[in-house]
Amino acid sequence: MYIAILGRQPELGIAELERVFGGQAIKLTSQQTATINSDNFDIQRFGGVPKAGKVIFELPRGDWHQISQKVVQYYTNEWSSFEGKITLGFSAYDINVNAREVQKTGIILKQKLKKFGVSLRLIPNNEPSLNTATSHHNKLGLSANKIELLIVAGHDGKIIVAESTGAQNITAYARRDQERPKRDAFVGMLPPKLAQIMLNLAVGNSSEKLRILDPFCGTGVILQEAVLMGYAAYGTDLSEKMVSYSHDNLDWLAQGYHAKFDYKLSAGDAMTAKWQQPISAVVCEAYLGQPFSAPPSPAKLDEVVKNCNHIITEFLKNLRPQIEPGTPVCVAVPAWRDTNGDFTHLPLIATMAHFGYKPHEFVNVSQNDMLYYRENQVVARELLVLTRI
Ligand SMILES: C[S@@+](CC[C@H](N)C(=O)[O-])C[C@H]1O[C@@H](n2cnc3c(N)ncnc32)[C@H](O)[C@@H]1O
Repeated sequence: MYIAILGRQPELGIAELERVFGGQAIKLTSQQTATINSDNFDIQRFGGVPKAGKVIFELPRGDWHQISQKVVQYYTNEWSSFEGKITLGFSAYDINVNAREVQKTGIILKQKLKKFGVSLRLIPNNEPSLNTATSHHNKLGLSANKIELLIVAGHDGKIIVAESTGAQNITAYARRDQERPKRDAFVGMLPPKLAQIMLNLAVGNSSEKLRILDPFCGTGVILQEAVLMGYAAYGTDLSEKMVSYSHDNLDWLAQGYHAKFDYKLSAGDAMTAKWQQPISAVVCEAYLGQPFSAPPSPAKLDEVVKNCNHIITEFLKNLRPQIEPGTPVCVAVPAWRDTNGDFTHLPLIATMAHFGYKPHEFVNVSQNDMLYYRENQVVARELLVLTRI
């Protein structure tokens, strides 16, 4: 059993985990954590899970003092004959404790182990939990002597003690996002993490050699993440310039990874294109309309909604006869946030079944949760997870 520490928008991580492991395997333990009933978990594949760990034991409800005693006792015993130096981090989630108290537990453990001749380097806590960057830079969870203990309280008060199996590689994400040769602020900057989430939402746990179509490929973020996950990628875009941008970015990625990726690119209007087969899944960030720095007037909003709704509806209609029944489709579409934080959604979402797509039903997440945005953004991305009927 694993425990996942979820990202800024926990629902997206839960949805992603549900698609890969099945809804019944995921149990929400708190607002920001969930257990995964599985023997394997590869964190680098999940955009919505900044940290994860293997569950070692559970403790009954208790205050930090009680938890601390049990943890110190268990790990003094466990590591008393440890060969070499241990680097250790402590992270507490959803427990009423401050950074200083968490740190104190580490110091007590360090003193106890010293008596057995085992030396321990403790990572300082500025917060009760180490942030992803600290865990990643210290390589915690990635080797036998670099350890992070994740101590998590569930809704039911029970305490889960887990050993981290690694944090997201934020250096690699930043590189893929910011160092690629072609970027375009107007077309948008889909974060690589979100592209990974979308790919997982579409293809779940399939281990087949899949070919992913992105008919709005832009600068190629989804295609990049698809080839890194071992899939073949097929991108098209209305703009020749974007097609060439995707080319340059994928070439750059292949050079950096010393890999030969399987991808194809061509120009085409998603409303009329005839795509080359095979297509195993469709994952795309569709046209989002123009960016706004403040909520638009009702008339302007109406115009943009109509335009986006038209393009995306025509795209889905054009796509349907070109893919097999059962083909998964994950599309990010725009939703506009007003000053009260309410959203205007695309009308097509309510009528999807009319043109031959069935929305995926999640166990722990509803469609209203499938929104990705930052606090200051007007145009959010709403994720539609569909199956071609
Ligand atoms: C939001 S951007 C996608 C950005 C992309 N995810 C990336 O990695 O850069 C939407 C893209 O759709 C393209 N586009 C707009 N209308 C289109 C259409 N009718 N058919 C195909 N592509 C279209 C735009 O050129 C733009 O590149």
